[in-house]
Amino acid sequence: MNFQTHEGRVAVITGAAGGFGQAFCVGLAKRGADIAAVDIQDASETVEQVRKLGRKAIALTADISNPSAVAEAGAQIRSQFRRCDILINNAGIYPNRSFDDLDYELWRKVQAVNLDSQVLMTKAVVDFMKESGWGRIVNITSNSIGLAAPG
Ligand SMILES: NC(=O)c1ccc[n+]([C@@H]2O[C@H](COP(=O)([O-])OP(=O)(O)OC[C@H]3O[C@@H](n4cnc5c(N)ncnc54)[C@H](O)[C@@H]3O)[C@@H](O)[C@H]2O)c1
Repeated sequence: MNFQTHEGRVAVITGAAGGFGQAFCVGLAKRGADIAAVDIQDASETVEQVRKLGRKAIALTADISNPSAVAEAGAQIRSQFRRCDILINNAGIYPNRSFDDLDYELWRKVQAVNLDSQVLMTKAVVDFMKESGWGRIVNITSNSIGLAAPG
């Protein structure tokens, strides 16, 4: 393992069909990592970009707030790569709604997608990191906590 690059490493990124997640996939692939691109939407465009860089990539379509879907994604990662060195919990939703218009169902959905998924995804891959004795987990949040938004 060359510790100056990500060669030989496998990175799992959620919310990888576009936005920041896609950029993380491409950035890590440029540094040599192979990529599992997880998203509720089709992440094949991301996979195509990574493969053009000469790295292995797979798209895993999964709702990361769903425990069985995440377990299945973990099984796919095991069968395709047999390792996971880097996990970026990036997927997130931010429905812009005033407190008066926020119902409990939407509140639960935001918690499930933004927070519960970080636990589920970490559970799904942490054993790989224990097996290899190395791992990095990055949880993306938002600086909007510092904003006083009307409503
Ligand atoms: N864009 C910003 O300005 C900004 C600012 C602060 C924080 N963030 C955070 O960065 C992260 C990425 O932001 P972005 O702007 O790239 O978002 P985005 O909306 O462009 O992409 C989010 C991705 O997550 C996927 N996703 C949504 N729900 C999912 C689910 N249940 N299961 C699997 N995938 C799901 C979507 O399909 C989408 O591809 C988010 O966590 C967001 O809160 C973004």
